[in-house]
Formats: sequence, C-alpha cells, structure tokens
Amino acid sequence: MLDSLHQFRFPEAELMEGEQVRAYADADFSLSHQSIIDTLSQVLGTKHIPESIVDLGCGPGDMTSRLLTLFPQAKLLAIDGSVSMIQYNQSFLEKRNQTKHVSFLCSCIQDWIPYTSYDLIFSNSLLHHLQDPFVLWSAIQRAMGENSFIFVCDLIRPESFSQCEVLVNRHAKDASDILKNDFLNSLMASFTIEEVAKQLDCVRLANRMKLVQISDRHWMAHSLI
Ligand SMILES: C[S@@+](CC[C@H](N)C(=O)[O-])C[C@H]1O[C@@H](n2cnc3c(N)ncnc32)[C@H](O)[C@@H]1O
Repeated sequence: MLDSLHQFRFPEAELMEGEQVRAYADADFSLSHQSIIDTLSQVLGTKHIPESIVDLGCGPGDMTSRLLTLFPQAKLLAIDGSVSMIQYNQSFLEKRNQTKHVSFLCSCIQDWIPYTSYDLIFSNSLLHHLQDPFVLWSAIQRAMGENSFIFVCDLIRPESFSQCEVLVNRHAKDASDILKNDFLNSLMASFTIEEVAKQLDCVRLANRMKLVQISDRHWMAHSLI
C-alpha cells in the first residue's frame, strides 16, 4: 500500500450511526472542544454577542452545550442528519437544562433551506464527513447575512498513513477500538489546509476569513472582525 495521503483523501460515510454514535458521545473531547470555544470567545470579544446561532453537524451535544454556556441568551438551531445524534444532543441538553432557546433539526445540510440568517454560523468536525466539501460552504452561504460571523474547525489530513497512526497513538491511545478506528478514518477523510484555502477561494470567502492551523491536527477558519 502506498503510504501517501498527499494527493487524495479517503472519504468516510457522511452520517454517524449505530455504535459509532455511542463511542463518540462517550468520548472525552473536553480539552479540544473547550479550547475551540475559548478561541471563539476571544475572537468575538465582548462587542459581538450573537443572538442567533446555527450549529451545523451538531453531533451528540457536547459542543452545542458549550456554545450555549458561552451565549446563554442566544437562540440556537442544532442540525444533524443522524437521528441518533439529534436524540443524543436533545437529551444531553435536557439534562443540563439548556433546551429553552434550542430547536433541533434532523436534516442533511444539503437539504436545509434556512428561513433566516444567523449571527453565528458554527461547525466543528463536519467538513471531513462530506463527500463534497461545497455542501458545507453552500449551506453557510445560505445561512449568511451581512453581519454573520462564520466559525469552522476540522481535522487536517496528514501527509501519510503512518502520520495518521502517529496522531491516533498520540491522542487516542487509551480510547476504544471503535473510536480509534473512527479517528484514523476521519484523518484520512479530512482536507489539507491548502485544500480548505482553495475551497474558501472558490466560494469567495477567502478575503472575508482567516484560516489557521491551531494544533497538530486541527485547522480553524473564522470571519475577520
Ligand atoms: C464528527 S461529528 C462532529 C459533531 C459535533 N459537531 C462535535 O464537534 O462534536 C460529525 C457530525 O456531522 C454529522 N453529519 C455528517 N454529514 C452530515 C450532513 N451531510 N448533514 C448533516 N449532518 C451531517 C454526523 O452525523 C455527525 O453527527
């Protein structure tokens, strides 16, 4: 097998279903998730408090809950194409008494037509699940108003399969086999920073957004303020 992921990604299934959902929901992503939320808070500062948020590919709730803790007054729409993810998310937020301003939508983002624009368009770890990355960028364009703030994070595809294995051993050594396998598949399915930069260029967001590497395995792209 060629040990190179330099040119190609290996897409994985879009929606997370079955045993994958429980493994992901039970995993502890608190450090990386909170660091993303802290960065969002720093970039937005105190002047830009969103009143409406959409969380694209919201997953089982940990990230949605952190967004609501940061912006407790905001109305939030949590979207995921997986029924079990939406169910997990709803019960996660119910346990924390955080559902007051939240709507849940089980839909693939490619089928979603927003009725309104959102002050904050947020997505973590969704892009690498998509066969076609423009599904995310066009959903973002549909949800954008003049003053929307876009904040997207995801994994970076390493240059080789062996580098993927190094990252799995570094960050998920003690995780379950399902989670380790998911992480490996996700790394191989993700995009390089150069590919994300080209995508932003194609949808004419490159000059409105800053794209940076934030860890050995993540990039972040957010609107310029
Ligand atoms: C890796 S999880 C990330 C979940 C959450 N954002 C987080 O940070 O923990 C990716 C999520 O995107 C969802 N997803 C994948 N493709 C989707 C699509 N086309 N439309 C909506 N949701 C999708 C999956 O079902 C899964 O819940």
